[in-house]
Order: sequence, then structure tokens, then C-alpha cells
Amino acid sequence: MPLLYITRKEHFNAAHQLWNPLWSDEKNLAIFGKCANPHFHGHNFDLYVCVKGQPHPETGLVMDLKQLKLIIRKQVIDDLDHQNLNLDVAWLKGTMPSIETIAVGIWNRLTPHLPEGVQLHKITLWETPNNFVEYFGE
Ligand code: NI
Repeated sequence: MPLLYITRKEHFNAAHQLWNPLWSDEKNLAIFGKCANPHFHGHNFDLYVCVKGQPHPETGLVMDLKQLKLIIRKQVIDDLDHQNLNLDVAWLKGTMPSIETIAVGIWNRLTPHLPEGVQLHKITLWETPNNFVEYFGE
């Protein structure tokens, strides 16, 4: 049976600030740039959730993408959209909400909810048109 990879794209808007309180203002600004803005700032995040599996013989589908959409929205988007990622999201509390950290959090939110025979393969999270991160669960 062939193994296939299917992807659902979702989108959310959220604010964050990248700031290490142990560092000086100068160092924070040097490392994090605009993401260190003291009054937070927003991004339009694009999220790609890629899962893998074998197509079911009765449907030809690895997974119903409507079902994947609902899982992503319930487990991730409803928590993140229009929120402050430093303050408002229980599963990001106490972390530096970089796209790296958020991608790992999204992976951990989604894996327990996928149907049998379907595995999460990759989380891709775009923060700007030029910057994105990929996470394979390693
Ligand atoms: Ni930022």
C-alpha cells in the first residue's frame, strides 16, 4: 500500500513579544529585533499540518481533510487566533512564543487527536512572508 502525505492549511492572527528578562534591553533588541517590541506586535500566521498514512480502501483517502480541519481548529486555532501568545494561551504559558516553540506546541496538541493509522508528519508555521519553521516531531 502506498504511503501518502496530505496537508491542511489554516491561518491565525496573534500577538507576541520575544523578550528574555535576564538580558539587557540592548541585547533583547539585538537578538529579537522588532519581535522585542515592548508593547507586543502582531503576525498573520500560516499553519500547514501535514499527516501521513495509507489511503483507506473504501474511500481512497488517507484522512478526511474536513475532519483534520476540525481537529486543528478545535485544538489549536480556537486557542491562538486573536490572542496574545505570551499571556492568553494555557499551553504556551511560561514559554518564549517563537514560531519554533509554537510549532512544537501545535504538534503536541494535535498528535493525540488523529485517527488510527494516521500520523502527524510535519508542522510548518509561517510568521512572515520570508520566515517559517518546520517541525517533524524529533
Ligand atoms: Ni514577532
